[in-house]
Formats: sequence, C-alpha cells, structure tokens
Amino acid sequence: MQSSLFDEPQQPSRRESLGEQTFVLRGFALPWLDDILPALREVLKAAPFRRMETPGGHTMSVALSNCGQFGWSTDARGYRYVSDDPLTGRPWPVLPEVLRTLAREAAAAAGFDDFIPDACLLNRYVPGARMSLHQDRNERDYGAPIVSVSLGLAAMFQLGGLQRSDRPLRVPLLHGDVMVWGGVDRLRFHGVLPLKEGVHPVMGPQRINFTLRKAG
Ligand code: SIN
Ligand code: FE2
Repeated sequence: MQSSLFDEPQQPSRRESLGEQTFVLRGFALPWLDDILPALREVLKAAPFRRMETPGGHTMSVALSNCGQFGWSTDARGYRYVSDDPLTGRPWPVLPEVLRTLAREAAAAAGFDDFIPDACLLNRYVPGARMSLHQDRNERDYGAPIVSVSLGLAAMFQLGGLQRSDRPLRVPLLHGDVMVWGGVDRLRFHGVLPLKEGVHPVMGPQRINFTLRKAG
C-alpha cells in the first residue's frame, strides 16, 4: 500500500545550529500559540508597551514591557532589573505558565536542562524599529541560557561574536521561531536590523519578541 502524506507525523521543528551553543528552533512556538496569545494580551493589559529612555538620553525605537519576578528597565540612571513596573508602581504581571513551560522545553531542545526563567522581556517592533548590537549582561549570573521567541513580522537578527568587532551573522527570524543561546555563547553580541514594512496575518503590522531569562 502506498503511504500518503497524511500518515506522516507532524513535522518536528527544525533545529539549526549557529554556534557551539546557539540554536534556532524553527517554528517551535507555533503549537503553543493558542495559549501564548491570550496570555500576552493579559500581561499587556496590566503592563502596556512603552518606549523607554536609554542612559544616553535616547528614546528606544522598540517599545517594551515585562512579566515575571524581574523586569528589565532603562532610564537616565542606567539599565537594570526591577520588581515593580515603573509606569504603574505595581509588581510586573506574573510569568504565564505557558511561557515558563515553552522556555523550559526550548532550552532543553538546545541542550540546556532545567531552565527556570524568572524574567520575561517583551519587545514590540513596528516598521523601522531596531535594536543595536548589545550583550545581555544585566543578569546576576550567566549560567542560564537566553530563550527568545519571535512572533509576527519577520526580522533580520544579527548574531555577533564575543567581541563587538566580530562581524555579525544575519539570521532571519520568522513567526514562531525560537532562538536559544547560552554556555560559551551566553555573551554573544546581538541586535535586530530595522523592521521592514508589512502586515502579518496573525499579529498585524508588528513584530513581538519575548525573551526569557534567569535574572535574579
Ligand atoms: C533583545 O535582544 O532584547 C531582543 C532580541 C529580539 O528582538 O529578537
Ligand atoms: Fe538582548
């Protein structure tokens, strides 16, 4: 009997290796979307996106929010993690269970067992918004990986090396893709090129990225 397409199990998400301990898990978040989207809506109701000031006096083009025990924040005094939302004075919304589980499973798929995030940064890019090359180094220790989930419009991610001068790789990140980096790659420079105009069928004219970390 001839086997048909419909006998095949669902295609497992594809894992691309971009370094010793850096991976893109293509489409990894897609099966979770029905739980992720309402959870994000709840978080954003309590802690809306806002554009923050950098210590250098610039307004970021990316709007951000947070959930979890610690939230990444910036103002004239510097970059840091805070437990209360500076906009509302209330604690950041709790980290939704679906994001905690997704982060743990994505980390495991990239070789990092037992990842327990306590911070989730939400980034909103509209066309033209970008993030310049930086390292994630406001966390207390670098033992845990970074898990970064992309939703909406495709972005061109820049994945650099451990030195700012290392020429970055360009990695297109699509709706549902999850990047994981840690271990020897934990302090790699990274950024996002200006978002191109477009309208995503599910997310509209924007890209939303959320980045799960262990900060405390
Ligand atoms: C970040 O480094 O905080 C954001 C990365 C991204 O938007 O993919
Ligand atoms: Fe980052």
